[in-house]
Amino acid sequence: MSVGVARIDDQHKKLIGIINSLVEYHDTPRESDVVPVILADLIAYASNHFAYEERFMKKFGYAAAQDHMKSHHRFTEDVYRFNLRSQGGRDVTVETLFVYLVKWLNTHILIEDMAYTDTFTAHGLH
Ligand SMILES: [Fe+2]
Repeated sequence: MSVGVARIDDQHKKLIGIINSLVEYHDTPRESDVVPVILADLIAYASNHFAYEERFMKKFGYAAAQDHMKSHHRFTEDVYRFNLRSQGGRDVTVETLFVYLVKWLNTHILIEDMAYTDTFTAHGLH
């Protein structure tokens, strides 16, 4: 799974690391301690990583940039919503985050992100 740009691949690996940590903490007594930490990681991840991708989409005039940025926006909103729920004492489980992130991996990273690889690499970004 590579988009052909080393720094973006590294950022995606960070997300896969978060998904793996969710597997590790699923059904453990630490579950409720871990959720706020994971959510803080996801908020930081989304803001850095999406800004990085979007910078090059705009710079290279990527045709699907608007739709792609809408997906990023939806993800950011969802993560903030999970965070608010969690801070409000409502249940956000490791399982909920796991299911959400695996879906994001399959629908966004493996499809929408892979779609910009030709544009990015054609402009010399590796
Ligand atoms: Fe993306």
